[in-house]
Amino acid sequence: MKTITRKEFIEQVGLGAAVLFLATCAGSCKKTSTGPASVNFTLDVSSGALATNGGYLIQSGVIVARTSMGSFVAVSATCTHAGGTLGFSGSNTFVCPLHGATFNTGGAVISGPTSTALQKYNTALSGNSLHVYS
Ligand code: FES
Repeated sequence: MKTITRKEFIEQVGLGAAVLFLATCAGSCKKTSTGPASVNFTLDVSSGALATNGGYLIQSGVIVARTSMGSFVAVSATCTHAGGTLGFSGSNTFVCPLHGATFNTGGAVISGPTSTALQKYNTALSGNSLHVYS
């Protein structure tokens, strides 16, 4: 049987605790950032989900919505709580189906369980062409 020093024991226990913490945390810890860092795509809004107010679609990790007033907004499609994929309600609110978090059209939290806002992206409409970019 091998004996170890106090220092070796503390090092091994500390490493084991760190591994256990990471394994436990990986699936349930609060996310601090979501959404792609770089976004640059164009959508045709003359037909499909974005042709009518209240419609939305998800592309390249971004949820693009047409508000009830007809303006376009784009935020990360990934909930900042635990990674649920967001939807958009007719009341101009992004909604997470997993635990009910809601966000306004600017990506700010309306109700938790998260307190972290969504990444927001820029939109620019030219004719029927909507440019979504970071
Ligand atoms: S993943 Fe929990 S509220 Fe969205």
